[in-house]
Amino acid sequence: MSLKIRNILAIETYPVRHPVLRAGRPINDCHFEGDDLSTTYHLGAYVNEQLKGVASFLMHQDVSIEELKTFNIKQCYQLRGMAVLNEMQGQHIGKNLINHAEEMLKNKNALALWFNARESAVSFYKKNGYQIVSEPYEIATIGTHYKMYKAL
Ligand SMILES: CC(C)(COP(=O)(O)OP(=O)(O)OC[C@H]1O[C@@H](n2cnc3c(N)ncnc32)[C@H](O)[C@@H]1OP(=O)(O)O)[C@@H](O)C(=O)NCCC(=O)NCCS
Repeated sequence: MSLKIRNILAIETYPVRHPVLRAGRPINDCHFEGDDLSTTYHLGAYVNEQLKGVASFLMHQDVSIEELKTFNIKQCYQLRGMAVLNEMQGQHIGKNLINHAEEMLKNKNALALWFNARESAVSFYKKNGYQIVSEPYEIATIGTHYKMYKAL
């Protein structure tokens, strides 16, 4: 499998964000606040030049996470919109995306990556070294989530 990871624009993530994360909802629901900021990065994973996975990284500190309080805002990134097309899941595309992102963010002097993880994805993130740093909480229409974090 020829896998390449590239920086892409927010709008280029929609063909993966939409079916995987916003299925059946209007395409406009694929937009995240902060998507187009100069400090936001979007990665696309291409298999044989076809986009199969995406992930986005926004400079943002969640002060409710105790582990982030010692860092300043420029050192904290939030992962959003992590998704691999259904038929391509389980082939290490997600793992490659997150490994690539960690290197990219370290090169930009980031020290921490955090996110709101769907319960169904928590094992994936744990395998990649992330830890749960909150109680479970509900996000309307999506379900149970946990805040997770890793020092880069
Ligand atoms: C979660 C997701 C991004 C993972 O990407 P992926 O390419 O399928 O995962 P990988 O193949 O890189 O998995 C890496 C390891 O985690 C495991 N894993 C992946 N998804 C898992 C899951 N949901 N539960 C448990 N383990 C999982 C894999 O088996 C693999 O284990 P291995 O290294 O022992 O073989 C992808 O499955 C997805 O898009 N899911 C639906 C959307 C979603 O939940 N996004 C996250 C929102 S917070």
